[in-house]
Parts: sequence; structure tokens; C-alpha cells
Amino acid sequence: MGSIRHATVAIGAVIVAAIAATLATSIWAQQSHVRGRELYVANCAPCHGASLEGQPDWMKRKPDGRLPAPPHDTSGHTWHHSDAQIFLITKEGLSAIAPGYESDMPTFGGKLKDTEIIEVLEYIKSTWPDRERAYQAARSAE
Ligand code: HEC
Repeated sequence: MGSIRHATVAIGAVIVAAIAATLATSIWAQQSHVRGRELYVANCAPCHGASLEGQPDWMKRKPDGRLPAPPHDTSGHTWHHSDAQIFLITKEGLSAIAPGYESDMPTFGGKLKDTEIIEVLEYIKSTWPDRERAYQAARSAE
């Protein structure tokens, strides 16, 4: 009987540890998204919108032939791209993945640290529902 009680206590301890780990991870994630959100508001929102809604008529080319800023919410296609692609687009611009492509998307390599770019992108990703997150995670794992 003693061993059953031991096992129960051990399982209880494992569960408590698991809950603590989950809490720590989600608190960490929330804090990192706070910083990511601040960086987003300061650097991306002027074009991509405070609610990630993008610019009006974002699919229609402007008179100069360039496209407006697309949304980063699920109505856009940021979530179709892998982590590596959206990181590269943010750091080095769209021409980094589409050579010669002219775009109004600035490059942030000289302005934000790699870790800050990741924080911004993690904030954007944190706003997506499970379906888009799962799709994007699968693309990133390819
Ligand atoms: C000066 C306006 C402007 C700012 C500021 C800006 N962007 Fe953009 N961004 C654009 C435009 C315009 C495009 C689309 C260009 C195109 O397709 O030709 C774009 C496209 C993108 C894309 C590709 C989306 C897709 O669906 O292919 C990503 C990712 C992106 N931006 C991330 C960011 C992030 C992250 C920030 C802030 C750190 C940011 N952008 C700040 C204008 C901007």
C-alpha cells in the first residue's frame, strides 16, 4: 500500500511541476509579446496598421506600381510564409526572397536587432488562431 501512496505523491509532484512549467512558459510568452507588441507599434504599425489590418486596398498596385502594406492578420498572407522567410523579409526586405523586386517595405537590419525582429514576429504570430499557427509552423518545419 505504501508504494501506491508513494506513486501517487510522485505523480502529484510531476503534475505540479508540469503546471508550474506551463505557467512559467506562458508568462514568459506574454511578457515577450508585450515587448514584441511595443516594437510592432513603433516600427510596423504606421504601414501594417495598429490592428495588423494593413493599408486600404492593399491588393491594388499604387500609381508607382508598388503594392501597399498588406495585413499581418489572417486576411493577409504573412502566415503562408515560414519563419525563415518572414525574418528575412523584415531584416533584408522582399528582394531578399524575390531578387530585383521593388517594394516599399523597408529593411530593418540596421534598425532592429535579430532578437527584436524575432520578438515582433512572435507578437504577430501570437495573434493568429490555431489553424493559421499550425499551418505556419508546418511551413517553418519544411
Ligand atoms: C513604410 C511602410 C512599411 C513599414 C514601416 C513596414 N512595412 Fe512590411 N511591408 C510594407 C509593404 C508595402 C509590403 C508589401 C510589399 C510588396 O508586396 O510589394 C510589406 C510586406 C511585409 C511582409 C511580407 C508579407 C507577405 O504577405 O508577403 C512582411 C513579413 C512584413 N512586411 C513585415 C514587416 C514588419 C515585421 C515590420 C515592422 C518591423 C514592417 N513590415 C514594417 C510596408 C511596410
